[in-house]
Amino acid sequence: MTDQPGPSVPGPSVPDSSAPGPSAPAPPALFTWEFATDPYPAYAWLREHAPVHRTRLPSGVEAWLVTRYADAKQTLADQRLSKNPAHHDGPAHARGRTGIPGERKAELMTHLLNIDPPDHTRLRRLVSKAFTPRRVAEFAPRVQELTDRLIDGFADRGGADLIHEFAFPLPIYAICDLLGVPREDQDDFRDWAGMMIRHQGGPRGGVARSVKKMRGYLADLIHRKRAALPPDPAPGEDLISGLIRASDHGEHLTENEAAAMAFILLFAGFETTVNLIGNGTHALLTHPAQRARLQRSLAAGESALLATGVEELLRYDGPVELATWRFATEPVTIGGQRIAAGDPVLVVLAAADRDPERFADPDVLDLGRRDNQHLGYGHGIHYCLGAPLARLEGQTALATLLTRLPDLQLAVEPAELRWRGGLIMRGLRTLPVEFTPNR
Ligand code: HEM
Repeated sequence: MTDQPGPSVPGPSVPDSSAPGPSAPAPPALFTWEFATDPYPAYAWLREHAPVHRTRLPSGVEAWLVTRYADAKQTLADQRLSKNPAHHDGPAHARGRTGIPGERKAELMTHLLNIDPPDHTRLRRLVSKAFTPRRVAEFAPRVQELTDRLIDGFADRGGADLIHEFAFPLPIYAICDLLGVPREDQDDFRDWAGMMIRHQGGPRGGVARSVKKMRGYLADLIHRKRAALPPDPAPGEDLISGLIRASDHGEHLTENEAAAMAFILLFAGFETTVNLIGNGTHALLTHPAQRARLQRSLAAGESALLATGVEELLRYDGPVELATWRFATEPVTIGGQRIAAGDPVLVVLAAADRDPERFADPDVLDLGRRDNQHLGYGHGIHYCLGAPLARLEGQTALATLLTRLPDLQLAVEPAELRWRGGLIMRGLRTLPVEFTPNR
């Protein structure tokens, strides 16, 4: 998932009809640079004073922000809220902007995050096989190999930008492997994906060109794989071959749907994981006691704290700040607020996951936190399909970093770090670190 297209410099928020009563202090500014750096105080204010808040987004689209945990969970599961942008009753220019580059290309539109049952049920069932915990566990040695290879690339230098040299390439290579993109083509994917991230919110030409190249490549790859497909599936067959097989055997998957599926997997699984590794490393480096606790546990060969720790990092400062767009298909009431048919609704996962009504000491990072039913992977029928893979990548990346570079630290003051100013995703532009070189 990527950010909604819009200006890269966030604009001011617009106070509105859902504004709190006269006794409440003024609402905080949303979508400024200060907000991008630390949105949590503003979310705390919204949760308390205007938990279902109508605002104008930097793109000009008006939408409702849902910030309390209980409301968020209910909203994510409410089938009266459609994922299909055709239900948006806003101005024409604003419709269909879920933030996936290329989404306006009809052939890439029929992906999981843009559709409702029964199409959603059918497509999700077809692709779910590739993400069973067993299939993902089989992938663990490859993720470890990729992780080590990337760390080898900078370990002897004593410093690196962890976003560009580590967090960014790891998920792109992993998804390419999963889809069945040949190794010799994977660097092209890395370049196109890099263009899309760098140009988000900026001039749209760069993104459009990269989307076009990726789409052309995927169509060609599907074509080539179809021509070479053996009659029976081999164990561990790649995902694109599995999708072609499904479409060939009357499971109602069109070639466009197969291409859209490959595309959404790339986008849903790429920047999210970059930011899990980036935000997670940042949180660990700025919470030395928690980081030392994790390092002790890893040195003792334990895995329990790593597993609860990655969930806590998702809750505390997760990659997906807002869930993707939903549109009311009929008037609905959320948290006592009436929402008209056609209105867009955005669930603020980052606010819900710090709700004191649900989490004790929500602003404290506690890697061993129990009862941590965070919403970082969403909830309901659109719950993250790639969660087992994301967990595998996040756990492997963080454990290997802390083990191989035990004195890893930030190379700049935390205040100097710059966060991307997008809407849906939360992540760092760069993460400069230093450490004793491994010679
Ligand atoms: C830490 C990394 C990740 C996070 C935090 C994350 C988070 C999410 C969230 C919050 C949603 C639901 C969005 C909504 O309801 O609006 C979602 C959906 C989805 N995610 Fe992930 N994701 C991650 C990694 C991945 C990976 C690695 C893949 C696959 C390679 C993936 C594939 C998907 C897909 C296909 C959907 C749509 C599911 C549907 O609509 O049925 N995600 N993810």
